[in-house]
Amino acid sequence: MGITLSKFRKDKKGAEFDATSQYLYTLTGKAKVYDREHENIALRHNIVREIFNSNFLSPIHSELKAGGLKVLDVGCGFGTWLFEMSSDFPNSSYIGVDLTPQLFTATRPKNVDFLTANVTERLPFNDDSFDFVFIRNMAYDIQESQWKFLIQECTRVLKTGGYIEITEAELRALNCGPLLQKLSKKFFEYITSTKVNLLITEKMEEILISTNKFQDIAHYHRPFALGCWPSHLREAYRSYSNDVFRSVIKFSDVKEKDYDNTIKDLINEANKYRTYFNMHKYFSQKIEA
Ligand SMILES: C[S@@+](CC[C@H](N)C(=O)[O-])C[C@H]1O[C@@H](n2cnc3c(N)ncnc32)[C@H](O)[C@@H]1O
Repeated sequence: MGITLSKFRKDKKGAEFDATSQYLYTLTGKAKVYDREHENIALRHNIVREIFNSNFLSPIHSELKAGGLKVLDVGCGFGTWLFEMSSDFPNSSYIGVDLTPQLFTATRPKNVDFLTANVTERLPFNDDSFDFVFIRNMAYDIQESQWKFLIQECTRVLKTGGYIEITEAELRALNCGPLLQKLSKKFFEYITSTKVNLLITEKMEEILISTNKFQDIAHYHRPFALGCWPSHLREAYRSYSNDVFRSVIKFSDVKEKDYDNTIKDLINEANKYRTYFNMHKYFSQKIEA
């Protein structure tokens, strides 16, 4: 029996919805039927929450609980994080911006709004609008040269005293076996050609400090496993790794008919080598310049 990560919760009117993208996911890796991308994002959301033991680390739990806070999720996707936050802290209000409005679900909690915006351009909000600005899993989407402007914009719309929190993966596998090393070469070459810095996490503190609005930056990182080596999250990792490896080998010379067997080999190899990548979190409070 897997651990249920995302529980059905009730909104204010008592209607039941799943706070994580309105679908139920369990650590057995068996999701209700929905498209793979959605499943994968919700699964990653659940794993990240489990490994950090919370949906956020900024010290604003009691303020969120008291209510009246305005929260922005930059590049919110399907609103997975927002839905759960809006359920956990129903007296605060939430806005998600994303480039792709097709991702926005038609039904959503009353305290959540979505807005279409390109976050590499000026954010469509006044200065000092939000108490909490959250960015997660944008590392594949934002070019290295765009990060500084994005963080400046997030800082501009954040109130003094408010918190920014960034959660990003270091895009390199550690304890990587030879098969993954070989088969991921073209995938990483492609990502690099899109001007994405695979190790942008190494520059995040410097980028935050360059705004002159953050002084003490808290930085934590946790291992995110590839394969399914022993841990209470192993079935979730197995399911997630399956999709990651599939995406990676699409760039390699492996024939489609051999994908399933190759993925099995990659999972076995990752288990043997204990392959993982680091998931990083940074948070800081905005100060007067
Ligand atoms: C990997 S998903 C992460 C979604 C969500 N933050 C999460 O952690 O589950 C990246 C999201 O960024 C959005 N995105 C990419 N480039 C963007 C841009 N320039 N402006 C706004 N959203 C963007 C994509 O549409 C996608 O929903």
